[in-house]
Amino acid sequence: MLEYRNLVKKFGERTILKGINLKINQGEIVFILGTSGTGKSVLLKNTVGLLKPDAGEIWIDGEEVAGFSEFEFLKIRKKCGMVFQHPALFDSLTIYENIAFGLRKHFSLSESEISSRVNRALKLVNIHDINDKRPAEISYGMQKRVSLARTVALEPKVLLFDEPTTGLDPVTTNAINELIKDLSRTLKTTSLVVSHDMPCALSIADRIVVFDQGQIVDQGTPQELLNSKVKLVQEFLAEAKEMLDHDSNVIRGTTS
Ligand SMILES: Nc1ncnc2c1ncn2[C@@H]1O[C@H](COP(=O)(O)OP(=O)(O)OP(=O)(O)O)[C@@H](O)[C@H]1O
Ligand SMILES: [Mg+2]
Repeated sequence: MLEYRNLVKKFGERTILKGINLKINQGEIVFILGTSGTGKSVLLKNTVGLLKPDAGEIWIDGEEVAGFSEFEFLKIRKKCGMVFQHPALFDSLTIYENIAFGLRKHFSLSESEISSRVNRALKLVNIHDINDKRPAEISYGMQKRVSLARTVALEPKVLLFDEPTTGLDPVTTNAINELIKDLSRTLKTTSLVVSHDMPCALSIADRIVVFDQGQIVDQGTPQELLNSKVKLVQEFLAEAKEMLDHDSNVIRGTTS
């Protein structure tokens, strides 16, 4: 469904992606973990045509898209939606119109079909009664959820998530992780999720890919990663364990 072959991206003298090879099957949930600045967002942006790779191929649903023009990418964005790290909503539009925008642009739907898809998407991300508000009137966490709803409303075959839960409370984080799982189960959506959240990756990913300095340094099922010999993976695991221990100590009242 989504495949990268020897993908290279440079900015000036700096090579950010150093030949990425990765194949993701339909319905699969793949998490990308990696330290800051290792090219995770750059990989996603190349996938939806916001950046152009310097070499290599990107295959989406049987089409090689790396050489596509901006116009040709319009078609791809219907199939492959991206939820950005920072919610970039249109300030002057209401929440309802923000979500309806892509539906109007890509599909010819009646007003009642648009309305039911907007409301369904908002319900999926667990927000209500804000249809007429503008982005500035809602919190950052809510904006993130609206930006997720906006992409999910298009029901793309492939969904790219750039840190969908960073900065959100645990309840919303769980809801969004459940949503990613549900989309994969019900619509067979293929998901590529960039995240720093190791516990979440271990619980919902079919496969975890670990990035370091523009390269894939390890990958496998959650179970395989738990036994990884790669130092960076062990560091991620140790940090996740510390977080879980800390949380359970807080619950038991032995730590503040
Ligand atoms: N448009 C751009 N022009 C020049 N350099 C860029 C551009 N976009 C990203 N970079 C550089 O590419 C590198 C990788 O950036 P990227 O945003 O992919 O990191 P990341 O892995 O997503 O990190 P984080 O976890 O902090 O989001 C960084 O050094 C960044 O400065
Ligand atoms: Mg990033």
